[in-house]
This record gives sequence, C-alpha cells and structure tokens, in this order.
Amino acid sequence: MAKTEVDLASIPLGKTVTIKWRGKPVFVKHRTQEEIDDANSVNLKALPDPQEDSARVQQPEWMVVVGICTHLGCVPTTDSGDYGGWYCPCHGSHYDVSGRIRKGPAPLNMEVPEYVIEGDKLTIG
Ligand code: FES
Repeated sequence: MAKTEVDLASIPLGKTVTIKWRGKPVFVKHRTQEEIDDANSVNLKALPDPQEDSARVQQPEWMVVVGICTHLGCVPTTDSGDYGGWYCPCHGSHYDVSGRIRKGPAPLNMEVPEYVIEGDKLTIG
C-alpha cells in the first residue's frame, strides 16, 4: 500500500497541514506545549471514547490523524470547535487537539494511522 512522506520541518509550531494519504485527508498538527498540556489534563471519564493522549501520539508535538469524522464521514475543519481541535460542520461533532471526540454525534475518536517519524521525516502508511 502507498506510503506518504511529509517534511515536518515545513510545518510551523501551532499549525496544521492536511495531506492526502490513500485518497483520505490526514491532519498533521504541530502542537504547542499548551495544547499538549491541555490534551493531557482531560478527565478520561468524561470522554465518549476514552483514550490517553499518550496512546495516540509517538511524539507529543505531532498529532497525526485521519481527517474523517467518525459519525458519517465528513471532513472536519481544523482549529475549530469548542475544544480547539477540529469541528465537523455536518452534524456538529467537536474533537480536541488529540483528535478525540468530545461533543456531538460522532461515536469514536478520529483514527490514528500507522506512521513513523525519523528526524524531520514523517512517513504515513
Ligand atoms: Fe461529522 Fe456527522 S459526519 S458530525
């Protein structure tokens, strides 16, 4: 299956890029320390799909998720919603900076694809 490479050095701190991988959007977010702290301060019991942030990242500053809403498959918008992550305008699902569902009809967190980070190179797939 096809792999996609991304130059992480080209993504400034605090920014998110959307790339295509196997025909799907993948969000690569360069998280700030504040965002990382925020992602780690969540009470897991309050999450519809409880998952530690640390279980969803390889390096805390890089959040990599398949950009498809787990409700009915729309593409959420970045840096939006009530939790500073993503917002799906189709039916109002809010995801946090870890791509975890926090509010709205989506049942699950956005999927983390298989990837490897070596230096500044991210390889998805
Ligand atoms: Fe995203 Fe329905 S498809 S909320």
